[in-house]
Parts: sequence; structure tokens; C-alpha cells
Amino acid sequence: MFQYGCRRGDYKFRLQMSKFLTEEYDDEVDCGELLVTCGATNGLYMVASMLFNRGDTVFIEDPSYFIALEMFGKDLGMNVVPVPRNGEGINIEEFDKVLSEYQRASSHHPTEQRPYWSMVYLIPTFNNPKGTCLSTEKCEQIVKLARKYNILLFCDDVYNLLSYIPGEKPEDKPLPPPRRLFAYDKKTDPDYVGNVISNGSFSKILGPGLRIGWMEAPLKVLDVIENSAFTMSAGGWNNYTSAILASALELGLVSKHLLEKRKKYRDNLDSMYQVFMDDMPPGVKIFKPQGGFFIWIEFPEDIDTEKLRDVCEKEYSVSFVPGKSFSTTGSFGNCARVAITYYERDVLVTAAKKICAAAKTFCKN
Ligand SMILES: Cc1ncc(COP(=O)(O)O)c(C=O)c1O
Repeated sequence: MFQYGCRRGDYKFRLQMSKFLTEEYDDEVDCGELLVTCGATNGLYMVASMLFNRGDTVFIEDPSYFIALEMFGKDLGMNVVPVPRNGEGINIEEFDKVLSEYQRASSHHPTEQRPYWSMVYLIPTFNNPKGTCLSTEKCEQIVKLARKYNILLFCDDVYNLLSYIPGEKPEDKPLPPPRRLFAYDKKTDPDYVGNVISNGSFSKILGPGLRIGWMEAPLKVLDVIENSAFTMSAGGWNNYTSAILASALELGLVSKHLLEKRKKYRDNLDSMYQVFMDDMPPGVKIFKPQGGFFIWIEFPEDIDTEKLRDVCEKEYSVSFVPGKSFSTTGSFGNCARVAITYYERDVLVTAAKKICAAAKTFCKN
């Protein structure tokens, strides 16, 4: 564990990860498709920088994880374009037309190093910021589009393991999350070429300071990363922590910890959601997710949540992230993202009550 280690990551860790994920997802995860990373950010950066060039187009959902958006635009000089949407999320018909136009304008020729001309950055399960999940129908449609246009679907799957979907009885373990998009890109399909990456992390389930994650990816993507000078110089990412985690996984400690977290976060979610439902002024919509870290709130159109956030911070010592922060188009100015996991339930309930009190006064004025 003190050596450089195998370039795809410690084998024992990957083996334990495939067993752990297969069980938690209730869906097969193949050890041969895993690569160890230093967390989701590292996985995303490696893919975006090694498989794409400055100026290449990356399609994003609007709203989306704001730091990823900055990484594409500011750090990597990519052309960031929002995916067309309608009331139900991604507008597949429109997106088909947009892809066709952009592909025609692209001068890219697929090579081993750069097999795709563009990528879509998605958070399909327990989305950040909205908490939503892509429907089965949309998952099937978007994989078809990716194959048709030879693009990569990069899924930041960092919240998938935090499912709070209730079992039959209240005391039952929460159910596994909806199937990740990676599983829709079936290797048995005659037109399979490998268009999806599932980018996972221990940051949200164990601790971000560990800086460890994993990627499930098509073999051609793993080859590019494994054979890059970047990986050759460093060896397997985070070899030391991988070896410790391999033992923790083998002993069942991670599954036990995860189950406790899921129950605790579900309690936090239920309690905060109830406060918002009871105490928010009329016309405010509260979206309860089935997993993940966030409650999404939509205030009436004329409410500016950046101003509301300032009032919350100055007068009530609470905060949230205004919706506009997640948009490249300046949309969602009347929305807010509230986190449910960092503090204990009592603190969160008090904070939710304060946000409601601030909103009541703010919406009246
Ligand atoms: C969608 C998404 N991706 C990536 C990250 C960062 O993950 P990591 O700590 O594994 O780099 C976050 C953290 O907020 C996130 O919400």
C-alpha cells in the first residue's frame, strides 16, 4: 500500500467495490470496468481534460452543479451549452435537433485518444440541485441519442447510494436507488459501443477528506486514462486509502455506516420538509427528493432568492444557495437549494423555521 500501485487502482479494493456496489445498487457492477479516482472531481477532470480539447462542446443540464460548470468553462475552456428542456426536464426531441446541428459543425474525427466529439454532463439520480431522478423512459431515450450521435454521457453519480425510498414497512431498510444510467447502455445491445460513465465518490457517504472515488466506464475510456502520462507518473490513485477501505468494505463496515447515514438523512429530510410545508407562505413549492442531499424550493416568480438569502444571513444567521448559482442562463432566480445532511436534525429544523420566518416577511414586502 505504500507503493505506486496498479494504474486502474488497487485490485483488492476494486473487487470489494464491485461486490459492495452490486449489493447496494441491486444491479451488477463489473470489477473490470472500475477505475479508482481521487473523488468525483478528479474523475470528471480526467475525463474532460484527457478525452476532450479546449473549445469542444459540453452539454449541461440547467440548473446543474455550479462548480462543474465553472470547471468546464473557466478551467478547461470548453464551450458550455445548456440541454434544451421542457416541463419534464430534458426535451429529447429538441436535443436531437441541437445535437445534429452541433455535430455537423464539428470537425472532430474519432481517434483512440478522443473517441467522442462531445459530452453531456448529467446528475441523473438525486440531482444536485433539484433532487430529481431521470425517468426510465428518459434514460432509454438519452442512451439512444448518445449512440446515434457518438457522444459521451458523463453521469456524476455521487448521491446514488443515499436512497431514502421507503420499503414496505416503516422499519424496513430504504430501497436501492433507481438504476443508474450506465446500466441502460447494455453491452448485449447490437449497437453497443460504450457511451456512459458512472462517476462515484466516497465524499457523500463516508468523508470528502478521504479523496477517493471510482469510475465505471467503457474499456476504451479506461484505456485512455490508464495509459495517460498523468496516471503513469502517479500510479494507481490513492493506493494507501484504497487498501484501508478494501478492508473496511470486506468487514461490512461501509455498508453498516451507509445504512445509518441513510436513516439519519431520511429523518432530517422528513423533519425539514414538514417545517417547510407547514410554515412557508402561500405560493411556495417544496420538492421532496427520494434521496441525496437537497430540498429544492420554488418561490413565486417575483421573489429574488439572492436578496432573501442576504436577509436570512444578516437577520437570522441561516443560509441556503440561491437557484441562480446553478444556472449558466441566469434562470432560477426565484429558487433555493437547502442542504439536509451537514447538521444534526434539531439544528436543521430550527434553521428551516428561520428560513420560513424570513420568507414570510420578505414575500409580504
Ligand atoms: C454533483 C457533484 N459532483 C461532485 C462533487 C464533488 O465530489 P468529490 O468530493 O468526490 O470530488 C459534488 C459535491 O458537492 C457534487 O455535488
